[in-house]
Amino acid sequence: MCVANDRPAKLKMGLIGPGFIAEHHLDAVRRLEGVEIVGIAGSSPQSGRDRARVLGVRQAFDSYHDLLAEQQIDVVHNTTPSHLHYEISLAALRAGKHVISDKPLASTAWQCEELCEAAASAGVVAAVTFNYRGYAAVQQARTMAHGDELGQQVYIHGHYLQDWMADDHVFSWRIDPVCAGESAALIDVGAHWCDLAEYLSGSRISQVLADLHTAIPIRFSSGTSQTFAGPARDHGTPVEVHCEDLASLLLKFENGARGCLKVAQVLPGHKNDLQIEVCGRAASVRWEQEKPNELWIGYANAPNAVMSMQASLLAPQARAYASLPAGHPAGWPDAFRAVVSDIYDWIRADRTATRQPATLCTFEDAHRISVIIESMLESHKRGGVWIDVPQKNLEGTREIVAAAGGERR
Ligand SMILES: NC(=O)c1ccc[n+]([C@@H]2O[C@H](COP(=O)([O-])OP(=O)(O)OC[C@H]3O[C@@H](n4cnc5c(N)ncnc54)[C@H](O)[C@@H]3O)[C@@H](O)[C@H]2O)c1
Repeated sequence: MCVANDRPAKLKMGLIGPGFIAEHHLDAVRRLEGVEIVGIAGSSPQSGRDRARVLGVRQAFDSYHDLLAEQQIDVVHNTTPSHLHYEISLAALRAGKHVISDKPLASTAWQCEELCEAAASAGVVAAVTFNYRGYAAVQQARTMAHGDELGQQVYIHGHYLQDWMADDHVFSWRIDPVCAGESAALIDVGAHWCDLAEYLSGSRISQVLADLHTAIPIRFSSGTSQTFAGPARDHGTPVEVHCEDLASLLLKFENGARGCLKVAQVLPGHKNDLQIEVCGRAASVRWEQEKPNELWIGYANAPNAVMSMQASLLAPQARAYASLPAGHPAGWPDAFRAVVSDIYDWIRADRTATRQPATLCTFEDAHRISVIIESMLESHKRGGVWIDVPQKNLEGTREIVAAAGGERR
């Protein structure tokens, strides 16, 4: 649809779940041309109104149902706690909206599969914000790994470690036995690493072996489970935690590379310590999220290098993501904006463009990540055995076959 001056009509968005990450969705959208924020919905009418005031949004809907009933809204951002993603994204798709969900797509692979089917029958864009894809350095590393600069990949390793849940008086819906699914740290942050590992390497994780652990089995809840709210000051109610806050994993990739991953949210000193390294026969490349504007490149027979994000030095594919001139550090919100911008471009192109935007993660891609996480949970349940990760999207969620033994469930 076009308006009189031939500028495309603004896409109208609404957001459900106005907590921590919602601020960054709104910030990203405000930095895009041609998108209008219509309103938000929170967990209650009052919470919606309070958050609308704080976030500078003019309209608060009483519930997500009311927001979805608003005809003028084209795009819905789902930034609710992860266990609500399935119900809300499904309702949004059935209302005919384009859906931008934060990760994880849903709590189980089954739910993800249903969401993929619902998105396909709605004929809308359905995408997930795996935001680390939006850094110029990640794009550069990907270009190098997909080309021949690294040579044959042999090892893909790294970690995603945090400490914001190191205090047993921090409580989150992520580990609340009433609503959390089977996994906590893996589905919350491990999912980002698994997405990056496949995205950078261009190869799928084919087998996993997992050892999961709950380092803090009793937490104290004082009623708030808002992200990064900090420890409760009073004693709180003791709650038994069953899902993992610490995970050690071995991986095998389809291209023959081996892998190793550590995930935790309870390790003092590690703030948002996401690191990933792809080692080939010719060179290695490493990206560290806390130094996002650098790429370490390692050689066996030449000096190692640290590449800065100077557009003229970057591969053409990465250049578009270097949003600032060299020496002006781009950060987390900038990468987030790049990913959201790519999704809106895809919506505007009505999926007719010949190439998907580079950072786009579709519901099907995100379904894949949940299949990997479920394979990891399964490996641990079976005592830490190698498990084949079902390789075809939307196939194999009905059965996970143990590599050793071939037992089916
Ligand atoms: N991409 C990233 O890097 C990143 C980072 C943090 C969180 N996340 C994801 O974003 C989602 C939200 O996480 P968060 O840290 O912002 O959580 P949060 O607890 O800070 O915010 C969740 C918000 O949803 C609201 N809410 C709860 N029930 C609701 C309902 N029925 N209807 C409408 N709103 C409701 C809560 O009141 C709160 O405002 C999670 O899925 C999480 O995995 C992604």
